[in-house]
Amino acid sequence: MKRYLITGCAGFIGSNFVYHMLNKYKDIQLVNLDKLTYAGNLENLKGALGDPRHIFVQGDICDRELVSGLFEKYRFDCVINFAAESHVDRSITNPEIFVETNVLGTVNLLQCAKNAWYEGGRWAVGKKFLQVSTDEVYGSLGEDGYFMETTPLCPHSPYSASKTSADLFVMAFHDTYGMPVNITRCSNNYGPYQFPEKLIPLMINNCKTKKGLPVYGDGMNVRDWLYVEDHCKAIDMVAQGGRDGEVYNVGGHNEKPNIFIVKTIIKELHDKYDDTIDESLIQYVADRLGHDRRYGIDPTKIRSELGWYPETPFEEGIVKTIDWYLANEEWMQHVTSGDYQKYYEEMYKNK
Ligand code: NAD
Ligand code: TYD
Repeated sequence: MKRYLITGCAGFIGSNFVYHMLNKYKDIQLVNLDKLTYAGNLENLKGALGDPRHIFVQGDICDRELVSGLFEKYRFDCVINFAAESHVDRSITNPEIFVETNVLGTVNLLQCAKNAWYEGGRWAVGKKFLQVSTDEVYGSLGEDGYFMETTPLCPHSPYSASKTSADLFVMAFHDTYGMPVNITRCSNNYGPYQFPEKLIPLMINNCKTKKGLPVYGDGMNVRDWLYVEDHCKAIDMVAQGGRDGEVYNVGGHNEKPNIFIVKTIIKELHDKYDDTIDESLIQYVADRLGHDRRYGIDPTKIRSELGWYPETPFEEGIVKTIDWYLANEEWMQHVTSGDYQKYYEEMYKNK
């Protein structure tokens, strides 16, 4: 039986990953360490909390005693680090917590893994540290070209700077101590359980509540959207078969300007939910500081080495996603009550 420490898996991608793994592997042990910040939510794990293969632990990846205690107790074979502060806009207002969790937290996990797996000058056999990273570490593209694994790192936002820094520490542990590692760098994800600070769930929620739809700048920034289940499948493949010390880019060649995404959501909700929802809700607002213009992934390496490919076309994925949010109104109500209102007011008042 393979034993995993998975971190940050009460959040969006992590909770989808828990379901992916439990559905796929009968004989598995997942220990899910999550601090339950504003972005973590036990409701996301409702279908997994009673499963004996999944143990939830509330705690901070920066906590040395807690994490090393978990290594001692569960003897992990693999660490997959999803835990992070993940929102670019929040990183612009408050960068420090991004350094704490994304950089110091990752280094703490690396140290604990090294202490547990490196003995007498040798690494225990069959271990792996997998860092879940992002294409944002590469910076921004012009009209042409794609991010390859060899593209120089050139982050712009405090979020991407912190993720880049974590990636560099992961590679430093590989290069210095020989730690067995992989890094995945994926493009923008969408799907169930995404917190409505991110573009797609925010626009769905604002349409439903008839709030303005705040489109930054000219709406022509491009993101390369991937359905979350396809990302989970890629992480699983890299965990099982990624070559030691390698980085794998993950993306499905699905680049869309933001305004296209917003108009797609409007049309779907107009047809399915309320025919008074229309494009008059769109409000072009002040641009995000340092806003990256275009992201686009070249996924050749993961496709040719591991046979990964995206299974969900955007047209299908976006409908599934919208249907999920419509069917889970209570989830949306819970996550948008209280602190979310304050966040929204603060973040959008000057835009
Ligand atoms: P999310 O914000 O939805 O979830 C983050 C989770 O981490 C939450 O459950 C939160 O409680 C937990 N967490 C935060 N700080 C913690 C700490 N100090 N200790 C333990 N747990 C902590 O994020 P997400 O969108 O699910 O992203 C997961 C990972 O994937 C992140 O590392 C992110 O950088 C990366 N990523 C995200 C995307 C995307 O489009 N969302 C794309 C590529 C990579
Ligand atoms: P986001 O979901 O925050 O992801 P990221 O910044 O990590 O790519 O934003 C996706 C795109 O949507 C990005 O170009 C910024 C834009 N955006 C808006 O135009 N309005 C919004 O209210 C938000 C949250 C994002």
